[in-house]
Amino acid sequence: MAQKWSPDSWRGMPIRQVPVYPDETVLKSVEGTLRNYPPLVFAGEARKLKKVLGEVAEGRAFLLQGGDCAESFAEFHPNNIRDTYRVLLQMAVVLTYGASLPIVKVARMAGQFCKPRSADTETLNGLTLPAYRGDIVNGMDFTEEARRPDPLRMEKVYSQSAATLNLLRAFSQGGYADLHRVHAWNQGFVASSNASARYSEMADRITEALDFMAACGLNSEVTPQIRETELFTSHESLLLSYEEALTRIDSTSGDWYDCSAHMLWIGDRTRQLDGAHVEFLRGVKNPVGMKCGPSLDHSDLLRLIDTLNPQNEAGRLTLIVRMGANQVEAKLPALIRAVEREGRKVVWCCDPMHGNTTVSSTGYKTRAVERILAEVKGFFAVHEAEGTYAGGVHFEMTGQDVTECLGGAQAITETGLADRYHTHCDPRLNATQALELAFLIAEALKKKRLAETRRFAAAS
Ligand code: PEP
Ligand code: CO
Repeated sequence: MAQKWSPDSWRGMPIRQVPVYPDETVLKSVEGTLRNYPPLVFAGEARKLKKVLGEVAEGRAFLLQGGDCAESFAEFHPNNIRDTYRVLLQMAVVLTYGASLPIVKVARMAGQFCKPRSADTETLNGLTLPAYRGDIVNGMDFTEEARRPDPLRMEKVYSQSAATLNLLRAFSQGGYADLHRVHAWNQGFVASSNASARYSEMADRITEALDFMAACGLNSEVTPQIRETELFTSHESLLLSYEEALTRIDSTSGDWYDCSAHMLWIGDRTRQLDGAHVEFLRGVKNPVGMKCGPSLDHSDLLRLIDTLNPQNEAGRLTLIVRMGANQVEAKLPALIRAVEREGRKVVWCCDPMHGNTTVSSTGYKTRAVERILAEVKGFFAVHEAEGTYAGGVHFEMTGQDVTECLGGAQAITETGLADRYHTHCDPRLNATQALELAFLIAEALKKKRLAETRRFAAAS
C-alpha cells in the first residue's frame, strides 16, 4: 500500500536539485503568499488535456510539445511569446496536414523557469559560486549577488506566467489562430527559407479547402474548430516549494491539482522512485510526464509507472524519451517491451534535444539538427519494429532567429553560433529549423498512414 499523500509529503523524502535559500523565513512567507494567489489553470482544463492525451496513447492523435528550454525575465516580451506561439501553430498545421490526425499542442511556456544542473557550483577564474538554476531561483550573471537564491523570484515567475498565459489564451481564442490566417503566420525571417516555400504551398491548399468548406456553409462563424485552437501549458516540476503552493483541491472532483500548468513533468535527474519529485507528482491528478534517459532500466520504469499511474489511465503518463541519437535504437526496445508485456498505457514521446548536446570547438553548448533528426527517425523506427505507436515529439525551440543549433537549411556553422546565441540554458531550434523538422516528421507520419491504409486494403 502506498503511503498517504499530501501536497507536502514530498518534504519527507530525499530530494535533489534544490537551491539552498539563505533565509528560510522569506521562503516561508513567499510560499504563504503564493498559496493565496489564484490558480493559473483550472482542474477541468487539466482533465481535458488528460483526455486528449488518452487519444494519443490509443494512436488517434499526436502530441507536439515545445518551447523554451528556460523562460527568463530578460526575454519577457509579447513579441517573443507571439513568435514562439506562431511557430508552434505552424508546426501543428504541418503535422495535422501530413498525418491527418489531431495534434495536441502543449507549450513549454508560462512556467518553465527552473533548471536542473549537473553540478551545484560553477568555478570561474578561481571563484566558486552556486550554479544558475533558472530565473525562478537565481540570476545568470556570475556574481555572488546574482547567484544567491532568492525566494521572491517565485512571485515574479507567477506574474510573468499569468501574463504569458493570458496572452496565449487570447491568441488561441481571439482570432489569431483562425485557420484563415494560415498564410499570415508565415512571417519574419522564416519567410525567406525553403521551409517557408513549402509551407506556403501547403497553406494554399488549406485555404482552398477552407473556401470549399465555406461554400458548403462551414465557416469560422459557425465552426469554432476553424476559428479557435487549444493550447496547453507545461513545465518541469522541479522547484517543489512553488509547485506545492499552487496545488489546490478541485471543488468538482475533490482531487488535488497542481494549478501552475496543465501538465508537469519529472526531469531525468530527479526521477528517483523514493525521491521527492516522484512523491509530489504521484498525488496530483494532472497529466504528468517523465523523462527517460539512457540510465533508466526497464524494471525501474515499471515501478515508476506503478507509482505514477497506478490506475493505468490512458493520458495520465507521457514517457518523454531522450536517449540521444546514438543510443535510442539500443535502449528503447527494452523499455517498450516491458511496458507492452505489462499492458501499461502510456504516451511515447521523443525528446531529441537533451541526449544530443555537445560543445562546439568555439566553446558553445550546441546540438546538431542532423543528430536531432536522427534521434526522431530512430524513435520512429523502433516503434515501427515493435508495433507500438510513436505518439509525439518534444522540442526546445523559439520563434526568434537565434543561432544555437548547428546545421539545418540555413547551415549554421560552429563559427556562426556566435552571431545570435541567446539561450539562458540549452541550445534551441530557431523557427526555420523547427519548421523543417515538422515537415520531416509529417512526412514520416504520412508514410506510415499510407502504409497502414494499403495493408488494410490488402487484407480486406
Ligand atoms: C529539460 O527538458 O530542459 C531537461 C533538463 O531535460 P532532462 O531532464 O531530460 O535532462
Ligand atoms: Co533543456
